[in-house]
Amino acid sequence: MAKMWAGRFQKEESKEVNDFNSSISFDGRMFESDITGSIAHATMLGHQGIISLADSNLICETLAKILDDIKSGSLELDPEAEDIHMFVEAELTKRIGEVGKRLHTSRSRNDQVALDIRIELRKNINEIIDLANNLLDAILDLAENNKETIMPGYTHLQRAQPITYANYLLAYAYMLKRDIGRFKDTYKRMNYSPLGACALAGTTYPIDRKMVAKSLGFDGVMMNSLDSVSDRDSVVELASAISICMMHLSRFSEEIILHCSWEFKFIDLDDAYSTGSSIMPQKKNPDIAELVRGKTGRVYGDLITLLTMLKGLPLAYNKDMQEDKEAIFDSVDTLKQCLSIFTPMLKTIKVNKENMRNAAAKGFINATDLADYLVKKGMAFRDAYKISGTIVAYCIENNTVLEKLSLDIYKKYSNLFSDDLYDYINLETCTFKRTSLGASGIESVEAQIKDLRS
Ligand code: ARG
Repeated sequence: MAKMWAGRFQKEESKEVNDFNSSISFDGRMFESDITGSIAHATMLGHQGIISLADSNLICETLAKILDDIKSGSLELDPEAEDIHMFVEAELTKRIGEVGKRLHTSRSRNDQVALDIRIELRKNINEIIDLANNLLDAILDLAENNKETIMPGYTHLQRAQPITYANYLLAYAYMLKRDIGRFKDTYKRMNYSPLGACALAGTTYPIDRKMVAKSLGFDGVMMNSLDSVSDRDSVVELASAISICMMHLSRFSEEIILHCSWEFKFIDLDDAYSTGSSIMPQKKNPDIAELVRGKTGRVYGDLITLLTMLKGLPLAYNKDMQEDKEAIFDSVDTLKQCLSIFTPMLKTIKVNKENMRNAAAKGFINATDLADYLVKKGMAFRDAYKISGTIVAYCIENNTVLEKLSLDIYKKYSNLFSDDLYDYINLETCTFKRTSLGASGIESVEAQIKDLRS
């Protein structure tokens, strides 16, 4: 097929070159962003008298029809086209001849593609924020129902101190809240229009960049023409925010996988969100969580692809930058898919409160509280810590737990111990009396839920 840029060339490119060069298979999805941008551009050209109003109107009307036709499926994208920009323009010219050729006045594909990717990603960021909010709501609902569910808290994956399942869940809620903040920040910095930078140097036509920016919902224009066409910071920024969000989902997944194993059995996944084994009839596998964990790797790969693609590029546009799309779209699609499936998976889990509590009752999870008890009676924490450790060692040797030791034995270690000790180291006390800001106590958890709901 003859190219629009064929004028300077003696030969046509080979099929291999065309295929290698073509990006329509992955930038075709930007058709709506591309057409919306072109309509704004053509409107401005007419308004400024750069093309006639009649031509501008005809171009805009025809572009709108092309958009409808692509959406309805009556117009198919040509896989042989070089990219979505060339495809739309060629279709326009096919429909209205000479007039269509005026659309690209005072524009280059360099600023056009930079514009399109921003319009396209803005839409995706909004969808991601909605999906993340849905997941956040699901976490909050689950936390709400588990304010009194005691479980062991871990460090080094060793039982450490008792916590509530609500407080545990809210940790992930805060991660998601920060993720949403990062997506909003990315949107803000992304929301400046590069259109009008043309190839790299701006133009001699009396264009109105601000008018185009405003009509497309941008907060302003990018002020430097070279930066406008060569900047992909916001793409990288989005890929980083997505990577961080996937990292959070992956950690959550890892714990869901652990928690539904027979060794823990803290939760059960709904049958609809689990899969079986082809050989072992007893198996119920947490494939969804595993896939989310697994897909995190490819999203990190996308981020590295983008950073590496950009690191040695001279100003301004280079074709390398065409590689941004597959990477960022893969990240966006992967995150959207993961968030969409994570929410119902979480909404349908069954919490085995008994098992959680039983696990928390083992492992000397109240040893810190035993030391704190002595501190409240006047002992220095370091001394109390040592005595508490010695008593734990005694219990291990005698196969018993702190709650079951007699007062006589306690008294051998310190005469600060008295009857009120047992209340103090009881699991409920240890969990619910932790009312400091952010802790597992009911009021602290309620304050967190309120903070997150607002
Ligand atoms: N398909 C190209 C891309 O995605 C569009 C820009 C082409 N610009 C050029 N000067 N060849 O980057």
